[in-house]
Amino acid sequence: MTNFVLKGNILYSKNKDEINFFENSYLVCQEGLSKGVYENLPDEYKDYELIDYSGKIIMPGLVDLHIHAPQYNFRGCGMDLELLDWLNTYTFVSEAKFKDTNYARKSYERFVDYIRKGPNTRSVIFASLHVESTIILMDLLEKSGLVSFVGKVNMDRNGGVDLEEADADFSAKATLDWLNATKNKYENTYPILTPRFIPSCTDELLKKLQKIKDDYKLPIQSHLSENLGEIQWVKELIPESKFYGDAYDMFDLFGKTNKTVMAHCVYSKEDEQKLIKDNGVFIAHCPDSNTNLTSGIAPAGKYLREGQKIGLGSDVAGGSHASIFKAMADAIKVSKLRYRLLDDSIKALSLEEAFYMGTLGGGEFFGKVGSFDKDYEFDAIVIDDRRFLEEDYFSLIQRLERIIYLSEDRDVIGKFVRGKKLF
Ligand code: GUN
Ligand code: FE
Repeated sequence: MTNFVLKGNILYSKNKDEINFFENSYLVCQEGLSKGVYENLPDEYKDYELIDYSGKIIMPGLVDLHIHAPQYNFRGCGMDLELLDWLNTYTFVSEAKFKDTNYARKSYERFVDYIRKGPNTRSVIFASLHVESTIILMDLLEKSGLVSFVGKVNMDRNGGVDLEEADADFSAKATLDWLNATKNKYENTYPILTPRFIPSCTDELLKKLQKIKDDYKLPIQSHLSENLGEIQWVKELIPESKFYGDAYDMFDLFGKTNKTVMAHCVYSKEDEQKLIKDNGVFIAHCPDSNTNLTSGIAPAGKYLREGQKIGLGSDVAGGSHASIFKAMADAIKVSKLRYRLLDDSIKALSLEEAFYMGTLGGGEFFGKVGSFDKDYEFDAIVIDDRRFLEEDYFSLIQRLERIIYLSEDRDVIGKFVRGKKLF
């Protein structure tokens, strides 16, 4: 099925401040691309298969710019700890188990099944440092029909005995093994270079990753300015760096040459913000994680309004849920607390802004994704909100708001990715 039409109540972001709403209308898919939304179906599409979702809500699939697949198993654990203690106590211990490919397969099957059922169609994913297990994850993602970037993690220091590569050479070689083993293997699953964060990677390793990035033309993902203790540590590890982002930039791993996404940016100051913007780095705003790990509240509204590229991340297992609907609600909530308690010069996020970040804003990392405008890739989800449609006066924007606050994965009754029906 390559050409078809969905009928229902359709909505998508026009820009960060406006959402397009179409009651009882038609959304056309042709060869994996959207051909737009119509109140009356044009004649040229009349012979396309019509899938009738009358009464339901149809919107673009949601985009998760930051999630850790191996952390799915322990989500909701250690939420009394801050980042560095949480990493050492739970994360590194748990990720070390992915050395065992049987354990990894079972775990990743659960993870992929979970993402497949929910509202997200696209994810930018950290695996672990293990090559074989990362390939297992990529195979499963490819089979699922979801589209994702997946990174084998690099870490050659500060991971403890169980989660540390022997040295920079070992880590670089493992990365090349992983890239060569997966080259041309997938249609919907792409590699992304993944230095975990500065404290996990020696200068020598970062230099080698720069070369691999150039040779293989890879995008990059990492963490940035998430926690105050972390930022202080980076300053000690790379004293020549002007600020945390500069430490990546010194090794050309900060968006200047290749597409890059940095998670968090809670404490980025003006100089770091300027470099993020100048280099076109995407920011993955992860409000649930930043709350759980007592990291802080990123000024997401400021970033968005100043024209930064920004989307949302679940950051499981710093975050407890993958649904980007929850991330939208969390982003709005924490922005209100920030406005009230910390800085009333930055207005709280609007519904339109949060929805934009979770669709079109993050979608840009994947190309033309997150909209139903003509020639965007056709990712759509269908939501049945009857379970909480108590009043008949709810408008489409009210229904969207309630889906953001109230929906669960079971309310997603249809999912299409690149024009392919998943369910
Ligand atoms: N910084 C380095 N590693 C991690 C991680 O796994 N999760 C989060 N939230 N921050 C990190
Ligand atoms: Fe993270």
